[in-house]
Amino acid sequence: MEEKERIVILDYGAQYSQLIARRIREEGVYAVILPYYSSLNEITSSNPAGIILSGGPAHVFEPGAPLADLKLFDLGVPILGICYGMQIIAHLLGGKVGSAKGKREYGNTGVEILSKSPLFSGLSNKITVWMSHGDVVLEPPNGFSVIAKSKEGTISAIANEQKRIYGVQFHPEVTHTPDGRKILANFAKKIAKAPANWTMSAFAERAIAEIREQVKEKRVLAALSGGVDSTVTSVLIHRAIGDQLVSIFVNTGLLREGEAEEVLSFLREKVGLKVRYRDETKRFLSSLKGVLDPEEKRRRIGYTFIRIFEEEAVKLGEIPFLAQGTLYPDVIESRPVAGPSATIKTHHNVGGLPQDLKFKLIEPLRFLFKDEVRRLGEELGIPEEILNRHPFPGPGLAVRIVGEVTEERLSRLRRADAIFIEELKKGGFYDKVWQAFAVLLPVSSVGVMGDERAYGEVVALRAVTSEDGMTADWAELPLSFLGRVANRIVNEIPGITRVAYDISSKPPATIEWE
Ligand code: XMP
Repeated sequence: MEEKERIVILDYGAQYSQLIARRIREEGVYAVILPYYSSLNEITSSNPAGIILSGGPAHVFEPGAPLADLKLFDLGVPILGICYGMQIIAHLLGGKVGSAKGKREYGNTGVEILSKSPLFSGLSNKITVWMSHGDVVLEPPNGFSVIAKSKEGTISAIANEQKRIYGVQFHPEVTHTPDGRKILANFAKKIAKAPANWTMSAFAERAIAEIREQVKEKRVLAALSGGVDSTVTSVLIHRAIGDQLVSIFVNTGLLREGEAEEVLSFLREKVGLKVRYRDETKRFLSSLKGVLDPEEKRRRIGYTFIRIFEEEAVKLGEIPFLAQGTLYPDVIESRPVAGPSATIKTHHNVGGLPQDLKFKLIEPLRFLFKDEVRRLGEELGIPEEILNRHPFPGPGLAVRIVGEVTEERLSRLRRADAIFIEELKKGGFYDKVWQAFAVLLPVSSVGVMGDERAYGEVVALRAVTSEDGMTADWAELPLSFLGRVANRIVNEIPGITRVAYDISSKPPATIEWE
């Protein structure tokens, strides 16, 4: 990508930085995120058509607050500051920023647009926006005018139309700002004039060419987990280099019901991928014997994976490349940026890949968000049943069995999960929730079976709505539906006497129980 065709977002640690990039990409314009401390050279060498300064938790007037290089404003590249980003612009260019004190705005706020700025092109004069800030711009810098004010009278947007520098106090990237998408599109397309050439078919073409160029005639090893990311990675690489790709599917015995068979038959029969299959269910189970601590479970699973990979690597001879389904959020979150966006997730790397083996990594999805991976998968002809599957953790059902993982408990959980998922699909809820699953609790609970008292375990059902798994709300499934699922689980699975529905949101709860 040589021309100025992307929007560069400088991340000041806002919870929403990734959303900005996603919204712009949804408009067909390529957007990348760089940490705020990137040098001017790093920023300009990524050829920005426009630059966005994100929000962040800091206060511009405090010592050590992350700011920007003043030369950024002389590049002639259009700039949009969002919330903290707008305060940086005001502060650095000679305006005045202070605490909102009694006028602190949070949540939905009415804003009046005061000018015919191209930023607000196509919008009515009064819009509803989402605010989340403690500081405000009290006076715009010289050369800037106030282009929107809130009902409370605070400055909601400023502009220097001549230099094409803009600031908004609210968050256009969140869905609570209904016109936000339009504002970001106006900035990217009308003001920055970035071309709308970000499509998954163009991406696939470019990625395939790059893989061929990198790999040449050598071989690539890929681990398939049954998940969307590793499946799309393998299919894409297979398009590029055919049978130079060596795929391995390890059945850990910790997968969902029918998962191994479904993914394998698709990849072998429909894609024509040569997949080496290893049934290691016994080995994983024995490595987990007696282990109660979830982190210890994760460690042992990872270790067992590494052993298996090493064995395969020895058998297969010289393979210099390893494919990984790393996604853009993993890339961004592994960089240290001050603030919450960097610290929410800690443990979500692909479980158990052999980091200590001498492979060069091939990560063709490293610039994509999850929803883009799904669209790329469609482009590559992967069926919906595989693409629309809910995310599944690397350590699998092991972290959904609280307490010891045994064959019997695994088979109970697998069945309960399958009943829940089957009913969600039947009821039309599966695609409406982000993730849903069953959890097995080590609680002995009394029930009555026939006329007898019987003790059994408890299953907790979890269903959440979410944009990306970073935050999540429990899903308000109908009670009659939950009743039906609970009934089936208790009736059909011996050893389970009680079902509970988890109504906690993230934060503070996490999505998984362990
Ligand atoms: P939490 O439980 O942290 O989960 O709210 C957020 C998302 O990450 C998945 N998850 C994992 N994925 N290895 C993974 O590959 C893990 O150890 C792991 N733990 C949680 C979880 O399923 C959810 O989608």
